[in-house]
Amino acid sequence: MRMIDIIEKKRDGHSLTKEEIDFAVQGYTKGDIPDYQMSALAMAIFYQDMTPEERVHLTMAMVLSGDQIDLSDIDGIKVDKHSTGGVGDTTTLILAPLVASIGVPVAKMSGRGLGHTGGTIDKLESIKGFQVEMDSKTFNELVNKNKIAVVGQSGNLTPADKKLYGLRDVTATVDSIPLIASSIMSKKIASGADAIVLDVKTGSGAFMKDLDSAKELAKAMVQIGNGAGRKTIAVISDMSQPLGFAIGNALEVKEAIDTLKGKGPKDLEELCLTLGSRMVYLGGKAETVEEAREKLVDAMKSGKAIETFKTFVAAQGGDPSIIDQPEKLPTAAHTFEVEAKQDGYISEIIANEIGIAASLLGAGRVTKESQIDLAVGLVLNKKVGDQVRKGDSLVTIYSNQEDVAEVIGKIYESYSISSEPVDSNPLVYDVIS
Ligand code: URA
Ligand code: CA
Repeated sequence: MRMIDIIEKKRDGHSLTKEEIDFAVQGYTKGDIPDYQMSALAMAIFYQDMTPEERVHLTMAMVLSGDQIDLSDIDGIKVDKHSTGGVGDTTTLILAPLVASIGVPVAKMSGRGLGHTGGTIDKLESIKGFQVEMDSKTFNELVNKNKIAVVGQSGNLTPADKKLYGLRDVTATVDSIPLIASSIMSKKIASGADAIVLDVKTGSGAFMKDLDSAKELAKAMVQIGNGAGRKTIAVISDMSQPLGFAIGNALEVKEAIDTLKGKGPKDLEELCLTLGSRMVYLGGKAETVEEAREKLVDAMKSGKAIETFKTFVAAQGGDPSIIDQPEKLPTAAHTFEVEAKQDGYISEIIANEIGIAASLLGAGRVTKESQIDLAVGLVLNKKVGDQVRKGDSLVTIYSNQEDVAEVIGKIYESYSISSEPVDSNPLVYDVIS
């Protein structure tokens, strides 16, 4: 087989066979196929697309390029959740203990990554003593005992995707549905999930800015997951404004605790119930999505959800007293209020701009080496649709620096106030399975 023939075939709009896709992916991962040929193939895929079968083959070729996590020692159906990423997205921190509390095993591998705030692992590390390093035997035992454990990413997962994603980044081929969908799904499948719930976000703070492309990506990922024998459901949710109130690491841990107690922001709670009920359903712990939702609501009301969080924190060496005394979480030296300059109704909060404001405070990583400040961030006191009076606080800034002029500027840029009442966007646009 020759790579040039494969490129030519795709360039001319034909479908590639499993053998051809395997040849290209394996050859590229090993270094036998050079970057220039792989980038030509990526560009051909960008223009010619891939059939559902090709997408499954590409995904599985990337899965098989590296290690696969074996979760077979863990009892039950392992359901993983993935979000395409947003601003102030605290859902994983809530969903993991919430669904575990009704018996769905949560064996979560999480990364640190770059972003406006840290990843789930960073957020959890704002709890004193919390450990994310452990061997796989301990990890499996913890999940079997408590139904939940979170471990830092290790092993050599999907090296083909790592290499290809890096190449796409510099050859204008990131923005391709088959390539994005196979990239994300390869990582989920290699992580050992039996079933997958996807939160595909749309809006200014999301990877997919408009609803049509979010739907297209969601359908592509559901098709790949199901085609690869992993039951997959996608929820398309709004990320035009940040989710919940808190954006920042310790601040989001506090928000997660409130939500697990049934006292969190309503949008965040609703999205957690929407995603969580699908996880419980796929995990076989309810006959219907409606029954699953009732169980989750009960777990929040009865205290079972927050108890599971407490057990989980203690089991990984963290100080569980933060759950009843969240003031023990890292706190910032200064707070500032950003006040409304006029009366009216909040008509827009550009999620992406708010995310940048949080990262200016040091809440996120700019490079892989950056140190995160776990204490800092923002709490939104007003969301889209809320009425405000001049002088009301829109946002509280938690900072360890005294000069926050740039942060305040970003916040004003992201908020719009209209004189007429405004409806906020729907939280959930669609569910695809
Ligand atoms: N995120 C991924 O993991 N892969 C892509 O290709 C795009 C976004
Ligand atoms: Ca939040």
